Amino acid sequence: MSTHSGEGQFLYLSREDVASAGLGVKAMIDLLETAFREKGNGRVEMPPKPGIHTQPDAFLHAMPAYIPAMKSAGLKWVGGYPENYKRRLPYITGLLVLNDVDTGIPYAVMDCTWITAYRTAAASALSAKYLARPDSCIVGILACGVQGRSHLEALATLFPVTRVFAYDTRREVQEQFVVDMHARHGFDVLGVENPRAAVVESDMVVTSGPILKQPDPPIQAGWLRPGGFASAVDFDSYWTGAALAEFDKVTTDDRAQFQYYKAGGYFRQTPDPCSDLGEIVAGFKPGRERADERTLAMNLGLALDDVAVAPEVYRLAREKGLGTWLPL
Ligand SMILES: NC(=O)c1ccc[n+]([C@@H]2O[C@H](COP(=O)([O-])OP(=O)(O)OC[C@H]3O[C@@H](n4cnc5c(N)ncnc54)[C@H](O)[C@@H]3O)[C@@H](O)[C@H]2O)c1
Repeated sequence: MSTHSGEGQFLYLSREDVASAGLGVKAMIDLLETAFREKGNGRVEMPPKPGIHTQPDAFLHAMPAYIPAMKSAGLKWVGGYPENYKRRLPYITGLLVLNDVDTGIPYAVMDCTWITAYRTAAASALSAKYLARPDSCIVGILACGVQGRSHLEALATLFPVTRVFAYDTRREVQEQFVVDMHARHGFDVLGVENPRAAVVESDMVVTSGPILKQPDPPIQAGWLRPGGFASAVDFDSYWTGAALAEFDKVTTDDRAQFQYYKAGGYFRQTPDPCSDLGEIVAGFKPGRERADERTLAMNLGLALDDVAVAPEVYRLAREKGLGTWLPL
């Protein structure tokens, strides 16, 4: 019998249940810091994610991880479909299963859309904590979708953000982002006409458009100012090879996974990362060393992120009586 559930039952949490559980971004960043410290010390089990691909540039990935120190084990089964917006459907959807670490029995199944939005942003913010200048206050967001919004929120929990430059190829999405983000956070949020204008004055730049295997990246060498930090949520889709070569430190969240993607045809012009986030958090590799360094987090998104935060979502949901118990 699972120690989490009644005999033969698991808790199902819908997308709304997961969001209503109320896990805050700062708490997520802290959970990820613990998880990445464990990873840096070699105490996490996480094979590179296998995937299937039913459409061009789309994916369905299986993402398992086990973090012994957090007594957390589980699997995310997640899809990313760039064309879904044409059907008014989310880019990212899927389910996450948590298993009891003693018995292996599943004790929760939850929608993973909210978790993916926020854990990705929390991981970028954790990278920024170690790699961005602490006084970074101007943010460029290129692609104003789900990740653009969650990234702004996560960065603003750690940095004194005052001004945001926002760019999206869909004008109506950009305009709504400007209105919503100003109302929510009170920053100066300016919609800009082109990618360059979102980069050149920014201390921190997030690119969060579609991940493309054959990208035509707009960001050129010389656009990101010295001392800048970037998080490439959409891999190398937005940065040219010359712009990538300009970074003093290219980091990732998992080297094995980086090489796995590289073997699959991504990152043709991206320098191999000098460190991963686990090594940095655990103190084996340096974060930012000089004020004028350009630093990049090329985080690929790990099962570790999901499995670090999902048990806390489950715990909060149970406290609030959310979700539906179902028989196994
Ligand atoms: N690295 C990770 O850990 C990780 C995790 C989750 C999602 N992602 C990736 O993040 C990206 C965004 O996901 P999302 O859920 O926010 O999707 P979304 O559909 O909500 O947002 C994507 C936005 O990109 C805009 N866009 C499309 N092409 C653009 C371009 N050339 N320039 C600027 N904007 C453009 C769209 O109009 C849309 O607003 C996807 O590529 C997804 O695969 C990465």
